[in-house]
This record gives sequence, C-alpha cells and structure tokens, in this order.
Amino acid sequence: MCVCTALGALALPSTAHAADTPLRDLAAAKGIHIGNAVAGYKLSGNAQYAAIAGTQFTSLTPENAMKWSSVEPARGSYNWAEADQIVAFAQEHDQQVRGHTLVWHSQNPGWLTSGGFSAAELRAILERHIATEAGRYRGKIAAWDVVNEMFNEDGTYRSSLWYNAMGPGYVADALRWARQADPNAKLYLNDYNVEGINAKSDALYNLVRSLKAQGAPIDGVGLQAHFVLGQVPSTLQANIQRFADLGLDVAITELDVRMQLPATDAKLAQQAADYSAVVKACLAVGRCVGITGWDISDADSWVPDVFPGYGAATMYDANYRPKPAYHAVATALGGGGTTPPPGGACTATYAVANQWGGGFTANVTITCPPGSSLTNWQAAWDFGAGQRLTQAWNAGCRQEGTRVTCSPASWNGSVPSGGSVSFGFNGTWSGSNPVPAVTVS
Ligand code: XIL
Repeated sequence: MCVCTALGALALPSTAHAADTPLRDLAAAKGIHIGNAVAGYKLSGNAQYAAIAGTQFTSLTPENAMKWSSVEPARGSYNWAEADQIVAFAQEHDQQVRGHTLVWHSQNPGWLTSGGFSAAELRAILERHIATEAGRYRGKIAAWDVVNEMFNEDGTYRSSLWYNAMGPGYVADALRWARQADPNAKLYLNDYNVEGINAKSDALYNLVRSLKAQGAPIDGVGLQAHFVLGQVPSTLQANIQRFADLGLDVAITELDVRMQLPATDAKLAQQAADYSAVVKACLAVGRCVGITGWDISDADSWVPDVFPGYGAATMYDANYRPKPAYHAVATALGGGGTTPPPGGACTATYAVANQWGGGFTANVTITCPPGSSLTNWQAAWDFGAGQRLTQAWNAGCRQEGTRVTCSPASWNGSVPSGGSVSFGFNGTWSGSNPVPAVTVS
C-alpha cells in the first residue's frame, strides 16, 4: 500500500510498514485464502481502499452487490453492474470471488417480500433467481454462500420467506439449484454465532450431516465470525474441526472484532490477539480453507451503523493505516516484522506461600501489561532441587523429570491486557526449595 508522494517511502506514516509482505503472499504460503468484503463504488472511487483490496487479499466477497435487492430491484429488471465490476476487479488482481448470497431472509427486494406470492410461486421464483444469478457467474465464483443465516440462536429454523413457504427442505433445494447453475462453485451454508460449539452450531452441524447423508450438494460451511472484543469462542478450533471431520471445507467468511468506542491501545492489543486466535484456529485445521474480513477499514465497517457505540472492528484504521490486528494476522500467517506490544511481554512470578518439613504451597501469577494479553496461556519451569509437584488448583499441571508445565483451567485461559491470572499448587521438597524462573507464553 504505497501512498507514495515525491518523497517516496519517507512520506509514509511509521505505522504503515510499507515493506511488509502482503497478507495475500503469507496466506498463499500457508495454503489458505485471505479475503475481504468490498463495495464497487469504493473500488472505483477510493484509491487507498482499492490499493489495499487489490494487493493484500486473494479473495473478495461483494459486500452487498450480489444480494437479491441489489441484482433484481424490480421484478425481471436486473442490475449486475456492481457485481460485474467486483468480479472484473478480482480477475484483474488474480483473486477469487466468494458469491454472497443467493438465499437470505434479509436484503430482499420489496416486490418479493410484499408480493403476496403463494408457496408454489415462491419456490419457482427462488429456483429462477438461483439459476439466473449463479448461472450468470458460472465458472467465475470460487464459492457461493448459497443460504445465509437459516437458524435462530436456539438452533431452530429461522422464520423467513423461504422457510415459511417451503419448510426446511428449501435448503437442500437451493443447493441443488445452485449446483445445476454452476457445477464448479463450492457450495456453502453461512451463518453467525456458529463459530463456537453451541446450540446454533449444533443445528448447523446436524443439518449439514443430514444433507450429506441425503446426497445434497454441500461443500462447506461459512462461519461469519462477527466477534465482540475478547470473545472469540474457546471452542472455535474444535468446532472447525468437527465440520472438517464431516468432509466439509470450512471458511471464516466475515471476520471482524468490534469494541466499544473509543478504541484504546489496550483494546487494540486485545483485538490483535483475537484476530490472531482466529487465524491460528483456521491454520490448525487442514480443511479450514480461508479467512475473509468484513470490510477493509474502520471507515468502511458496517458495525457502527448496526451496533451503536461499537466500532473499530477491522484490520485498518479509518485512515487506512494497518492496526495491531493487521500485524497480528501477518504474524500468525508466518510473517515477520511485527511491532512489539507497547507495554512489553506478559510475565509470571512464582512465590512460596507456605513451607513446612517436606512440603510447601506456592502460587504463580501471570500478569500482562497494558497492550499485551494472552489466550490459552502456558506456564513452565524447572524444579532444579528435586522438588515434586503434587497437586495444583486453578490450572492443570504436569511434571516430567524436573520440567513442570501448566495450562489453564476452563475458566482462566485469557489474561487480559493489564490483568492477571493466578494458580497454586502443593509440592514436596528436601534440602532446599529455591524459586524457579517461570516462562509464560
Ligand atoms: C451487511 C453489509 O456489510 C452492510 O453494508 C449492509 O447494510 C447490511 O449487510 N451478515 C452477512 C452480511 O451475511 O451480508 C452482512 O452485511 C453482515 C452480516
């Protein structure tokens, strides 16, 4: 992203890291795609936006341009201009396109939602819509979000135009029609709040398992990943894995991490940790095929409009400068050149609380300065004087030889920026009981 003037790189703000390897190269080296959501008028009207979209990503998702209300605002009258523009931009930049979305309860044209159609008419209209749109872009779309957001939070089907008219079978029908229209596109079901293991993701899991059993054409699931700061589910990786184990691809399709405004260094550091955790979870599962962010910069994000008081959810600030989250993603993808956290690294202290003939109690406290944080921490040390750990609390500890390794209990895996976590244990000693140095990661 060189917004170069006559002064060249000297004119760049120091945070721009102009020489860093683009995310797209890092992701390609890891075998995944990295994408973002884009709007056509910004690709043509905002040079900074277009430069980032074209150079940092291997995949683009039209943010709104392929939704039904965009492509067929009046019945039978199509407007493909913006969708065509985005597909052309992607092709020029050697990028794939995620098609979004063919069947949804939202952003449908008024003629459709208030047309008073019978169930049979709606079914025919939907079939025709899928044939028309997926057919138009046949061969140009890597993956389609065929159905978007079909479940309620409790895992029951969402009441929608489609469900109410056709029952749950509309999902399998839509997949079949999409397959006919574009046999080479990967076909996905996409939803939010299905990133961790919960009632809603269980419903999605059961649905895709039964679709596969029926032979319906389903290739993948999209986990939108619209997260709140510090709330990336601890079961994200396990959840990705269980879908992968069904023989499905998994994609993170709309990643953002919103925070209550104003943003602070500590919140931005937590956000960086959150983005990093998502990348790591995806990389850990072979069939996690890629990660798409939802909106290029904080100036483009949908968040402030929809979640009052929240924002700063993307990897670039409102001036298109990469944020700590950007650098964290680059690092998680194997890139170098990260900025160290402003407050330095998290540390651990070890204190003997009580000691008697042959036995002792000790506590370990892990502390993160403002600007640093840990998720799923690990603490380790060597007992050099023959001590043996007998029993730990608030952590799970193992001793092998002199080496002790402790990991969090289910409730204390995150050490927030400016916060701390403690655990304790009993041990035995003889001769001397020196305090070891604890490393934390
Ligand atoms: C959002 C867009 O970002 C906004 O511009 C638009 O006004 C509303 O839709 N889940 C989805 C996306 O699947 O299509 C939504 O996109 C965000 C939530």
